[in-house]
Amino acid sequence: MKQTYRTTSAAETYNLGQKIAQKLKGGELLCLYGPLGAGKTVLAKGLGQGLGISEEITSPTFNLIQEYDLDEGLKFVHMDLYRLQHPEEAEIIGVPDYFREDCICLIEWPEIIEDYLPEDKLIIRIEGSGELPRTIEIENWVN
Ligand SMILES: Nc1ncnc2c1ncn2[C@@H]1O[C@H](COP(=O)(O)OP(=O)(O)O)[C@@H](O)[C@H]1O
Ligand SMILES: [Mg+2]
Repeated sequence: MKQTYRTTSAAETYNLGQKIAQKLKGGELLCLYGPLGAGKTVLAKGLGQGLGISEEITSPTFNLIQEYDLDEGLKFVHMDLYRLQHPEEAEIIGVPDYFREDCICLIEWPEIIEDYLPEDKLIIRIEGSGELPRTIEIENWVN
């Protein structure tokens, strides 16, 4: 099942993130594809807000992995793997350790660890950048 959305502002992409959050139960892995400036972090911010996180979701460009505590022992784990050079580094920093039932994982730039990704995942592709509208396609999405 594939769903396509079109957004014409950062606020709309943020709202889509919030909307996606409402459907999550825990244990999901969201792989977010799209070029630099596509709006991956904007969507992640909306998603985090939709999950009930009150602190600001910041881009984990330098620390790569950012964890946020949710209710009921769940965590939201936001990763940005842009700076990884080799897939093995993802294992060293413990990326696959977060693929578990009590985490909702969102990965920006998942391309680098394609081989480590489990079968069961949501794939989100954002096309467009700058002030152009975005096409946002979600695979494996039951809406
Ligand atoms: N429709 C849109 N959706 C998301 N971001 C948009 C949109 N239109 C313009 N923008 C802008 O594009 C930039 C996206 O940045 P960011 O989310 O950091 O990208 P990425 O994480 O994919 O590199 C922001 O400055 C945002 O304001
Ligand atoms: Mg980003």
